[in-house]
Amino acid sequence: MDKLAIQGGARLSGEVRISGAKNAALPILCAGLLSADTLHLENLPKLKDISTSLTLLGHLGMQVSLDDQGGVALQAAHLDKLEAPYELVKTMRASILVLGPILARYGEARVSLPGGCAIGSRPVDLHIKGLQAMGAEINIEHGYIHAKASRLKGARIFMDTVTVTGTENLMMAATLADGTTFLENAAREPEVVDLANCLIAMGARIEGAGSDVIVIEGVDKLHGATHKIMPDRIETGTYLVAAAITQGQIRVLNTRADIIESVLDKLREAGAHIDVGNDWISLEMRTRPKAVNLKTAPYPAFPTDMQAQFMALNCIAEGVGTVTETIFENRFMHVQEMQRLGADISVEGNTALVRGVDKLEGAVVMATDLRASASLVLAALVAEGESIIERIYHIDRGYECIEEKFAQLGASIRRVK
Ligand code: EPZ
Repeated sequence: MDKLAIQGGARLSGEVRISGAKNAALPILCAGLLSADTLHLENLPKLKDISTSLTLLGHLGMQVSLDDQGGVALQAAHLDKLEAPYELVKTMRASILVLGPILARYGEARVSLPGGCAIGSRPVDLHIKGLQAMGAEINIEHGYIHAKASRLKGARIFMDTVTVTGTENLMMAATLADGTTFLENAAREPEVVDLANCLIAMGARIEGAGSDVIVIEGVDKLHGATHKIMPDRIETGTYLVAAAITQGQIRVLNTRADIIESVLDKLREAGAHIDVGNDWISLEMRTRPKAVNLKTAPYPAFPTDMQAQFMALNCIAEGVGTVTETIFENRFMHVQEMQRLGADISVEGNTALVRGVDKLEGAVVMATDLRASASLVLAALVAEGESIIERIYHIDRGYECIEEKFAQLGASIRRVK
């Protein structure tokens, strides 16, 4: 199994290009199921999760044609299966995002329950409750969600907890419902807005995406469109923290500053000098970073997907920082691995207290989930000597060409068997 070997010590410098957003591309690929016409997507990231998603869509009967410009043409003129099998869903929870579109267009869908995950139990009860509110009959049989509805109906749905894919699934389902749907306490993430923009380009009637109340007026059918996937704000944040932790100076290209303001604020608090342009962000860290306190929460608050990376920053910062995780109940798996690198972290409930140390030391560590693995790469970039990160298949799920991009910035990093 592939590993990453990283020799710490280099100050990162230069430019790096950001890829399309994984968490926007995954629901947008499923939006292709809502129309018989062709949906053209541009800026699709080359990631394991994207190829898993394309395999699932192909399995359902969608025509998928990739081009060599990072684009794809999707056409679901006719689906010959309405089932997302356990074998595919178990490798990627976001497969649940086919449920709403298939049910809305075909009146029936059978989707494997995603099951548990390293970072938390992650139930999908709010997805199911929302579809039931739209009139769907849903049974859980043999580990599968079996949903039926002659035609979904508009409904007022209040979601007890802010859920990103829950909002996306219900928004897609509501586009073809009979009547108007109000999604209340909806997720405001930029990826939800990017999906809404793609659906609107396909002829959907959606208002309020980006706010906590989204209104969708159902239509009889959607048509084809062309949509460019937004830049990945978590990949952007990860490279900016990498520059800060190595006291480097980089420019991140093909991105947007307006979608990661909470992250930029925390980097400024840590002492970084940040400049922004239309589609670039530059960061320079001239001194040892200062420790910051942070608490994750739904957008526009600080993203849980950046929590582990900032914990790595606090590990070598001046002072003591607290990191509180409020979204997922088991998202501190990286703590034990960082302690193997010499970090001083103690955990009490959902808060980690990180005392900055003068130096970390290279060691063999294990990746446990996507963002935890990114945080270990950052810690290894400043550790003395060599670190080996095992199980990096987690990284390939969400970071395109990670070792090439870091090497481009001057890091000593290579993939080993
Ligand atoms: C999305 O996951 C992202 N994944 C996650 O990114 C991200 O961490 C998360 O949103 C939060 O920002 C994709 O977009 C593909 P949620 P999602 O539903 O939608 C509870 C990464 O690293 N909940 O917003 O699955 C749930 O348990 C990944 O790229 C219910 O209780 O997350 C959690 O505590 C990891 N019932 C909270 O809501 C439900 O039906 C938020 O989860 C749904 C969710």
